[in-house]
Amino acid sequence: MNQASLHKKLASKELKDLEKADPQALFEQRLHTNLPLITDLFNTLYPDPEHESHLKKLPGLLKSLFRKRPEELKIRDLNLLKEENWYQSHKLTGMQLYVDLFNGNLKGIREKIPYFKELGVSLLHLMPVTTRPKGENDGGYAVNSYTAVDPRFGNRKSLLDLTAELRENGMFLMLDFVVNHTSDEYPWAKKALKGEQKYQDYYYTFPDRTVPDAFEASLPEVFPATSPGNFTYRPEISKWVMTVFNSYQWDLNYTNPKVFSEMLANLVNMVNSGVDIVRFDALAFLWKEIGTISQNLPEAHKLIALFRMCLQVVAPGVIFLAEAIVSPHDIVKYFGEGKLQGNECDIAYNASLMSLLWNSIATKKTLLLQKSLKNVPQKPDSCTWINYLRCHDDIGLGLDDGYIAQLGLDPWMHRKFLIDYYCQGLKWSPAVGYKFMENHATGDSRITGSCASLLGLEKATRNGDAAAVETSLAKIMMLHGIILSIGGIPFIYAGDELGTLNDYSYLEDAHKRNDSRWVNRPRHNWDVVSQLNDREKPSSRIFEGLKKMIAQRKKTPVLADHNNLEIHDPENPHLFVFERTGKGRKGILVIANFDEHPRILDIRLLDDLGYLKDGRVKDLLKGEEWKLTSGLVELGPYELLWLIKP
Ligand code: GLC
Repeated sequence: MNQASLHKKLASKELKDLEKADPQALFEQRLHTNLPLITDLFNTLYPDPEHESHLKKLPGLLKSLFRKRPEELKIRDLNLLKEENWYQSHKLTGMQLYVDLFNGNLKGIREKIPYFKELGVSLLHLMPVTTRPKGENDGGYAVNSYTAVDPRFGNRKSLLDLTAELRENGMFLMLDFVVNHTSDEYPWAKKALKGEQKYQDYYYTFPDRTVPDAFEASLPEVFPATSPGNFTYRPEISKWVMTVFNSYQWDLNYTNPKVFSEMLANLVNMVNSGVDIVRFDALAFLWKEIGTISQNLPEAHKLIALFRMCLQVVAPGVIFLAEAIVSPHDIVKYFGEGKLQGNECDIAYNASLMSLLWNSIATKKTLLLQKSLKNVPQKPDSCTWINYLRCHDDIGLGLDDGYIAQLGLDPWMHRKFLIDYYCQGLKWSPAVGYKFMENHATGDSRITGSCASLLGLEKATRNGDAAAVETSLAKIMMLHGIILSIGGIPFIYAGDELGTLNDYSYLEDAHKRNDSRWVNRPRHNWDVVSQLNDREKPSSRIFEGLKKMIAQRKKTPVLADHNNLEIHDPENPHLFVFERTGKGRKGILVIANFDEHPRILDIRLLDDLGYLKDGRVKDLLKGEEWKLTSGLVELGPYELLWLIKP
């Protein structure tokens, strides 16, 4: 049993009648319940006897942090604890957005609550809203503060007003906690730059290249094209600072327990604005060790669990999303292993599904998708995925070379094909995407572009090719239909619900020009929204289509995530078939055709799985039932079915 379930159990009497619950007493109970684990984690990370004083101070720190938690949120915590894993619900659909690009500022987001509700979105991920350097700032991921709202977006009050209104509307909020690094303008960095040793020790700073060179021997580069190397020389202090991401993002030194305690306070202050899910940014990088790639290290996992166990004492309703774009084998570890199972992160990005879907679109085949998904290690029952197609970042081709080779393909050639397919290296490809962080030496690259542009809508529109527009729309609907049904929280990237194309305006901004991820960070087009009643427009058709699918998802409890996904073999390389097995409910069989031609499926599969009744099947998406007259089910190009068990 994980700690969250234990808290639920211990508080079961109080949770039944929240009016009578005493949040303070329940806090004490959680503190005592988690303290052994917290102590254990702390001692493993900080074994030095001189660190003991920090551990001793931790209960006091947690008490003072709990005192600062608003009363309303203390009650919400208990409500969320009471609900059975609310984040696995079929009623939840998320949207990720940049506050300024979406609608100006935080007040503007509040005004759009009806828009989210119309579409069916009930969870928002707002990109960073706190203060950041004026010039380059990695879209706010270089933080000058963890709590001060950037005046461009509003102020603390507008954030609180927004979160209160989201709660009133039954919605949830996710914000980033940029836990791995601060900007070089963060107060600690500024003091370090003035020569204060205490704050230089909050980061990794070195007087010469000895240690940096030792690290570099095994450290990969995150942004090789724009920020090569992992250290930046700062002449103000004649020192090298570890900067794994951009040169202005300083890596925090978590071997120093003071950093942990202070960041814990920052975390709690941030969630006290009304955050339900903390996106733990770049968490794979939290612990560094010479001779390793300094990603996914066991200590990083312990540190995440330590943050989580402490936060759970203060704010038991708040959960963690692992922002780690790593292999399936590595990602499941963020759900916690052994006694940490279910005590680390509750949600993780399903990055491999994302890149496999893009792979299947380019190849028109699903073999790699099937093979890879069948081999994803099982996640704990209390955890879930975020399933997405696009986000503000690039598409990394995190495909398994071994599986590619098993399909008889050369992994290097295959990647080269995908990059060319999406980044305009092949004339016939419908995609209009761009390379990100191209490595000229190896030919490797990541891919960027908007969902619609990568799926052919930009080219089709430019060429006035009506048939290609239809194909693109079918692909857009099919992929969204998959993420809405495969199990986990479907996340729509703002703009994709309208089929927004690439945005080239970033090329005119000197601070953005070198980062092609900005091509997929467009301003929300409210003109298009105002024309949604013109039903023929591609944007209207996408919006309406998504709205219908989300509404259908909400009515279909079997789509909640209960680890009830089974991948079936369609015996056809172009089809993807998976089932959300009933477990007491009516199952759903999802069938998708990734080819531009009609493809067939043997109805014996449907019969064996129990989806045929009197030779008839029923599709929830079209709301139709029909008789299968031959022994085959035919799927049109990029057609998607959600068959319900009779
Ligand atoms: C995460 C963000 C990305 C950012 C990086 C560094 O990966 O998604 O946009 O560049 O963290 O903070």
